[in-house]
Amino acid sequence: MLCNQKRRRIFLTTPKARQKPTMNISLSAEKAILFSRPELFDFHGVSMTHYFTDNWENVQNFQVRPDDILIATYPKAGTTWVSQILDLLYFGQTCAERQKTIPIYERVPFLEIAIPSLDSGKDLADKLPTTPRLIKTHFPVQFVPKSFWEQNCRIVYVARNAKDNMVSYFHFDRMNVVEPEAGEWNNYFQRFLEGQMVFGSWYDHVNGWWKKKQTYSNIHYMFYEDMIEDTEREIDKLCSFLGLSRSPEEKKMISGGVQFDNMKKNEMANYSTAPVMDFKISPFMRKGKVGDWKNHFTVAQNEVFDEDYKKKMKDPTLQFRTEI
Ligand code: PPS
Repeated sequence: MLCNQKRRRIFLTTPKARQKPTMNISLSAEKAILFSRPELFDFHGVSMTHYFTDNWENVQNFQVRPDDILIATYPKAGTTWVSQILDLLYFGQTCAERQKTIPIYERVPFLEIAIPSLDSGKDLADKLPTTPRLIKTHFPVQFVPKSFWEQNCRIVYVARNAKDNMVSYFHFDRMNVVEPEAGEWNNYFQRFLEGQMVFGSWYDHVNGWWKKKQTYSNIHYMFYEDMIEDTEREIDKLCSFLGLSRSPEEKKMISGGVQFDNMKKNEMANYSTAPVMDFKISPFMRKGKVGDWKNHFTVAQNEVFDEDYKKKMKDPTLQFRTEI
């Protein structure tokens, strides 16, 4: 497994300068100048923003390699967690330096992202020196570049129950200046039910990928709640899917290292170096729990949600847990 990768420039300022803004320009002012909150628009039937469609042609023509591994999720379902696990499984022993010096969003590039003044995800993926390459996407299944299917790549899909997913997405949209404004919770709740989110409807996303799994055997469909319940068991399943044999000690060590509190402290995994996020509003590693929705949903909202859910989630083989 090859993994020789250098840290790339992605800071707006150095971490030190970020703590002490110079020239009377605060980081949030600096961000406001460089980045702007985008509008949602309909893109081939899915709500998107230009940051994820501007590079569409290049992304669709991305040259996939058969051993590439795609990590696919609806936003806020556990992408970073699984990315860190896979990076450790593949390169933790052979290139330990990598996890200490390169942020997760460079070790596992986000294929479709294209933010002016930052490297595009596609360019970062092209330049990845690792074998295999680990690549992240939030695309609904129908947007995945066809070459991934043609090359029969392995795909790890992570899904999270809609209630917690919605809450996590709400706080993310509040703190991320390249997301549409979150607005107030009641309105956000309604928009989520209607699929007016970046990358579209949660319901379409999880169902679309679930359906694909029936005909494309190289998808490992996993659940955030299962990872919370038993991370080691889920790492075992990942190893089986990927054909990796790792010692019990190594798997235990990885499982320990990726527990929420440890990842939250890890600057190379917690997005604290990402230029578009304002941790003063909300941290990226926020709560990491199953059931936080109970602190946000009103009783009435919960009833509306459950009624609507029954109508949209007709496939009895796809089940989510909203508490464990
Ligand atoms: S993104 O921006 O779409 O890539 O976000 P993503 O990584 O998919 O999801 C972020 C949420 O996952 C939680 N998270 C974790 N939970 C438990 N354990 C670990 N190790 C972990 N790592 C990330 C993170 O805290 C976000 O969830 P919330 O509910 O907001 O805390």
